[in-house]
Amino acid sequence: MPHITIKSFDTSSLEKGQYGSTQFLFKANDLTSKDEILGVKVEGESFLLHVKKSANDYLLKYDKVTRPLKVNLLKQAIGDISTALNLEVLHSNITIHTTKAPLANEYEKHIEDFINIDFPFESVAIEVGFGSGKHLLYQAQKNPDRLFIGIEIHTPSAAQVLKQIEILKLKNIWVVNYDARLLLEMMPSNSCHQIFVHFPVPWDKKPNRRVISSSFLEESMRVLEVKGRLELRTDSDKYFWYALETFLGNGVAKTLVEVRKNEALAITSKYEARWIRQEKDIYDVYVTSQENSKERVWDFDFLFKNVSYKKEFLDKITLKPMLFDGFFIHFERLYKINENAILIKLAFGSFDRPEHKYIWIDESEAYYFNSNPVKTVTNYKTHLKIMEYLNV
Ligand SMILES: C[S@@+](CC[C@H](N)C(=O)[O-])C[C@H]1O[C@@H](n2cnc3c(N)ncnc32)[C@H](O)[C@@H]1O
Repeated sequence: MPHITIKSFDTSSLEKGQYGSTQFLFKANDLTSKDEILGVKVEGESFLLHVKKSANDYLLKYDKVTRPLKVNLLKQAIGDISTALNLEVLHSNITIHTTKAPLANEYEKHIEDFINIDFPFESVAIEVGFGSGKHLLYQAQKNPDRLFIGIEIHTPSAAQVLKQIEILKLKNIWVVNYDARLLLEMMPSNSCHQIFVHFPVPWDKKPNRRVISSSFLEESMRVLEVKGRLELRTDSDKYFWYALETFLGNGVAKTLVEVRKNEALAITSKYEARWIRQEKDIYDVYVTSQENSKERVWDFDFLFKNVSYKKEFLDKITLKPMLFDGFFIHFERLYKINENAILIKLAFGSFDRPEHKYIWIDESEAYYFNSNPVKTVTNYKTHLKIMEYLNV
């Protein structure tokens, strides 16, 4: 990820305004260290940069929570700031490929785009964790009338597949760089023909990170049309049995579950090829939806009502995690923007699918910086608690 090391400089020379293609929005001081955070906007996307300070030099780097998928925007912002301030660069891994075509951003979707989404195709399929994208690209080429939504949590894989979409001139793929378990909750009911989950990470030691769970099954059956199918393919015995137990478990709507062993598919991912070479067994479990699901009604939002900056804030906010029934709130860091404004970094929501966000609070308003949490009931419940807590 792009970063530069620069000779220490006086950050007060940074003033709100335009630096090349980068709009510099604000600077905030970390209240627990000497580090600083910079708010910037490039090509309509707002994100944060960190200034990590050591005795002789500073590291200017990206922020994990708000980073844009297009790495060039990050490089642009870091490059523009260092050029405008004439910073002495000691080390840099930044080269901006201006001659390269931009990413096929028409096909990159954000989680917020799925609020009241309309699909430009009659039929829709999802692939969860597409990795190198071989199967996703193959399916999209084979079914040009179907929209394929690829959801991948690993940013470089998502960016690679966006490039491939452009090279192959495909019009029927959307790429979402997000946790598929959360994105699924944003999908309309009965809207999907297939959901592929090929070779998910088994997470034997951290089962709460697994993609397959009873809530994932429930959401999949809601999102799938009648006769639509969730297709799991795995090389892990343990994961196969775990998934089967989950799919047949209590509380699951009416479904049809099928199991196959060592079935050859038309396309083999690099990952699968490795297991085949090792003569490992490969399992498919198909779960077919049998019932129409009710449409989900979202009648809540993530606005902050009656929250504004007050001096008492800094004393009140504890940096210890707070646990509640089914969710948590952890204010991780506080950044002071000026006498009347702060930025709070926090993790919150459900224990297995936490959200990571920043909240901006000044004397007149408060909002989630750069994007709202995903519209889940747990996130909403947590949001109400956060609001209660910040309403000093
Ligand atoms: C073992 S790889 C398999 C990749 C590909 N499906 C294949 O068959 O080659 C698992 C992929 O799932 C992605 N992944 C893991 N958890 C995820 C989640 N919650 N949401 C979306 N993608 C996820 C990982 O980043 C990784 O690319």
